[in-house]
Parts: sequence; structure tokens; C-alpha cells
Amino acid sequence: MKNTTVEQEKQRLLEELLLGLRQPQKMLPSKYFYDEIGSSLFEDICALREYYPTRTEIGILRDNINAITGRLGRRCLLIEYGSGASVKIRLLLDHLRNIAAYVPIDISADHLLNATEELRKEYPRVKIFPVPADYTQDFDLPEIDAPFNRRVVFFPGSTIGNFMPDQARGFLRHIAEVVGTDGGLLIGVDRKKSLSVLEAAYNDSKGVTADFNLNMLVRLNNEYNADFDLDAFRHEAVYNGVYGRIEMHLISKREQLVQIGSEQISFHSGESILTEYSYKYHPEEFAAIAKPWFHVDTVWTDAHGWFSVQYLTVR
Ligand code: AVJ
Repeated sequence: MKNTTVEQEKQRLLEELLLGLRQPQKMLPSKYFYDEIGSSLFEDICALREYYPTRTEIGILRDNINAITGRLGRRCLLIEYGSGASVKIRLLLDHLRNIAAYVPIDISADHLLNATEELRKEYPRVKIFPVPADYTQDFDLPEIDAPFNRRVVFFPGSTIGNFMPDQARGFLRHIAEVVGTDGGLLIGVDRKKSLSVLEAAYNDSKGVTADFNLNMLVRLNNEYNADFDLDAFRHEAVYNGVYGRIEMHLISKREQLVQIGSEQISFHSGESILTEYSYKYHPEEFAAIAKPWFHVDTVWTDAHGWFSVQYLTVR
């Protein structure tokens, strides 16, 4: 029973991947970055000198932790979307008073269960209900038997930037539904800034982001018997100022045919697969996107104004 579900899920994902690769602008969904290797490469990215978002966001959380946890209040039920393995949640758990429960949701099940085990050791008094799920699809939140005052979603890292503005709206609507009346959203939103800072963050000198990007093709080779030649593709990230977003691509170095299962995909030289958008928002732009569902309570930022942590409440 469970096996057929896993098989069906794998088949559904293959259809989704192939659908993207058949488009005139070939694309792969950025959630596909995060298998065990990809999640670990992403942690390496977060530690890079050029990749300012992680350390800047952590700095903002540290500098304002009492104000932030004060907003969340006592007995809050904290739901984290895309929980990874971060120090960010530890900051919150260290300072939240009588947290009702912590519900981490992550697409990488192994990663999630390891992180949960660690947290349970460090915070034996916190009730943790891990949910291995792709939160861009329908999923069920577990029954939580713990009295709470309000639900708050924690969505750090500017992962919201992966969505196109319309998708971001849909996602915010979904979060407003999940947290309900009196609910809140604590979200990290990356801000617009100079081109050189932005492009360096996504084209690091050690090539970790390149490996992270190329890992998509490694996964296709391993999981779906594709035959991508990893030396025949290169990583590129550019900032598109018109749309206010970083665009990550894998660029075919030559004309080639690639086999995935029973399908052949053709590339001409220089043709790209779009793997990720990372939108950057002025605080006013983000407030406008969230406006139908959320009121922006507070925006915290850093000395450069590079990143923001925002607390929003349901209207
Ligand atoms: C996890 C989506 C926030 O967009 O900065 C990092 C992912 N991609 N380097 C981002 C990412 C390349 C990251 N997010």
C-alpha cells in the first residue's frame, strides 16, 4: 500500500519534471534541489562569504529576538515551512515562552527526521510534530493535542522569493488559512540591492552554487535513469532588474540529446534550463502582495537594508 503511494508520487514528480522540460523555456522546479545532497549543499551555500541572506537574517533575528518573540506571544503553535537544519529555529525556541508545539515541514524526509532528533535532544520540553511533505502540494497537518493561543507560521530564508508574485499571493492565502483568525506569519524577505552584491551571492567563487544547481541533473540521472553529461552543462545566475529577480540557469555547452526514461530532450548550444527564481522585494512591494490577507505588523532590517524579517498578522 505505502509502496504504491511512493511509486505514484515518484511518477507524478517525473510528469512534473518532464512537463517543465518540454516548454520552450525549459525549466525544472526549484523544490527539486533538495534531496539529501542538495540540502547539504544548500547549507554550504549559507556559510559562503558571498551569500549574505543567511547571516544577515540571523543577525536581524538575534538583534531583535525579544521584540520578535514578544509579538508571537505565549503558547504559540509554531509551524515552520521548509525547516532544514537551522540555527534560526533554535533562536526562537530559546526565547519563546511556553511554546505550545513546533511543527517543522520539509520536503527532504531524511533531513527532517535527523534535524528533529537533534532538536528533541536539545529541547526535551518542546513538543515536535515533524511533517515530511512538499508544501507546494496538498498536505495534511497532524492533529496537535496541545493547547495554544495562536498559530504562527515561520517562513525564513526568503524562500518566498522562489515563487512568482502570483504564486506568492496564492501561498500567502494558504498560510492565512492555516493560521486562521488571530494567526501570524514571521517571514524572511530579501530586499532589492546593488547588482554586484546580488550576482556575487548566486555565483560564488568556490562554485558551491554551481554544484547545487547541477545536482538537479545528478538527481535526474540517479532517480530517473537520465543520461545528462554533467560536463556539458554550466551554471549561470543573472539578476533581471525588470522583474526584480535572480534567475538561475543550467546552460547547455553544446547541441545535444538527453534521454530521460522513454523521452528524449534536445538542446541547442547555449540553451538553458531555468531552475530557480529568487525575487527581491522592497518592503512596500511585499506589503502590497500580502495585503488581501495580512497586515504588516513590523519590519526589522539590517544596517545595510539588505534583508528583512517581517511579522504579519491575519486581517
Ligand atoms: C532558499 C530560495 C532562499 O533564493 O537565495 C541559494 C536558494 N539558490 N542560492 C535563494 C538559493 C541559490 C535560496 N532560497
